Amino acid sequence: SILVLDFGSQYSKMIARRIRDIGVYALLYPYDISIHNILSKKPKGIVLSGSPFSVYDENPPLISKNIFKLNIPILGICYGMQLISFLFGGKIERSKYKEYGKSIFMIDHCKNDLFHGIPKKSIVWMSHFDEIKKIPKELKVIGHTSSCAIAALIHKNKDIYAVQFHPEVNHTEFGIPIMKNFILHICKCYPNWKLNHFVQENVEKIRKLVDTKKVILGFSGGVDSFVAAYIIHKAIGSSLYCIFVDTGFILKEEKEKISFFCKKMNLFIKIIDAKKRFLSSLIGIIDPEMKRKIIGKEFVSIFQEESEKIKNVEFLAQGTIYSDVIESSTYSSLKLLKNTFFIKSHHNVGGLPNLMKLKLLEPLKELFKDEVRKIGKYLGIPKEILYQHPFPGPGLSIRIIGEVNNKKISILKEAEMILLQELKNYNIYKSVSQAFIILLPIKSVGVMGDKRTYEYVAVLRVTNTEDFMTATFSHLPYNFLEKVSSRIINEVNGINRLVYDITSKPPATIEWE
Ligand code: XMP
Repeated sequence: SILVLDFGSQYSKMIARRIRDIGVYALLYPYDISIHNILSKKPKGIVLSGSPFSVYDENPPLISKNIFKLNIPILGICYGMQLISFLFGGKIERSKYKEYGKSIFMIDHCKNDLFHGIPKKSIVWMSHFDEIKKIPKELKVIGHTSSCAIAALIHKNKDIYAVQFHPEVNHTEFGIPIMKNFILHICKCYPNWKLNHFVQENVEKIRKLVDTKKVILGFSGGVDSFVAAYIIHKAIGSSLYCIFVDTGFILKEEKEKISFFCKKMNLFIKIIDAKKRFLSSLIGIIDPEMKRKIIGKEFVSIFQEESEKIKNVEFLAQGTIYSDVIESSTYSSLKLLKNTFFIKSHHNVGGLPNLMKLKLLEPLKELFKDEVRKIGKYLGIPKEILYQHPFPGPGLSIRIIGEVNNKKISILKEAEMILLQELKNYNIYKSVSQAFIILLPIKSVGVMGDKRTYEYVAVLRVTNTEDFMTATFSHLPYNFLEKVSSRIINEVNGINRLVYDITSKPPATIEWE
């Protein structure tokens, strides 16, 4: 496998994705992984990612120089290149010219394995404001652009390579061939990472691990939990118990949809009616974080109770995927450096293990979302499940701003259903990443049939995003907006005004609470 050490670049995940696309297994690790730990993973190559930091910052993310003694091929990208030069004693400074976007890259010294078969002149994608002023004697320049004299480096006698541009982004014309040269020829990896192997291997592993014990799975009805359930079911059959908690904050007809597909796929599912319990725990609660914490706690208690009802339960399964892992605490050191403060406590069943003493089973922990979808497709999971929009654990409760009550829940359920119908009618559902309605605790005056109305204001929120970390509001056609607005206002009792949220993330988040 290839280890990608993440120094915090927005493109780090993309590097790992590209390598997997080449057919080689790649894993992302925080930059501060120890040399000992690197060795224990037996990587055939290491990639050092970009970073929002500069090596001359007061507290930059660094690695030990001993990494060069491992005799494992290394490729530094952007900050990764500056870091390699810095560790060998080079000098890095803020550049006079920032270089963002497309640049023409010229290869200076053709005879090297990294640029084998690459034209002397090609388009690359740059994103940097620092440059190397003095290169250490161990390194040699092998490429430049018009505003960056040192745009690629090679070590004179070790397999260490570095590029200032980003070979992992699509805009770099020969990015994939350059990465292939590194992965397949320099690191000598064999491209045998295939998703169907992943399924077979995991089914075997789970079967051995679980043995005669039982597994309960926190089932949300989303893509990840369906795929996880399906893989585990393939391994242990009826020893898997999927638990779906009806919080009362789910979409209309969601329960029926989930039951239908579980039946179709032969999955045993237990639906827990916890509507009263959740609603009563939220009486008088307005603060969004309090809502999230209370809901998280209720989920924990329910899983605890359910695990005690089944004999011999030893595992708690979850549909955790790689981005959940990456964004979790392993990255705390980088977050601390960057001063990224807490934004909101996403609730999935993440808090459970410490409290429940069950062993965790997370078969998708190392997969990206699109890989999960590909596996789902391979396993024959229906399209309606694979391509559905994500839905947050706390559900409608965080889309009702302020206190939640039954009346507001039913208003919102009606509005959400109309939106979903129209997204499908207008063929927009697939081209946006997430679409929903938020109910505000504000009333406005309107006029309907010559009569004054005084009802709630609702917000339409529709975004496009790759990874849900950043997002833009969707540019929707006016006739669609008009239709959704008129249907919601005419058909839903309790809403008399609909507004469209035109804020991107950042500065806003996707949900409102
Ligand atoms: P935000 O609001 O943080 O949302 O921009 C990003 C994505 O995460 C979803 N989301 C959640 N998912 N549990 C989940 O499983 C949660 O507590 C939660 N809160 C937000 C949100 O819908 C969006 O897709």
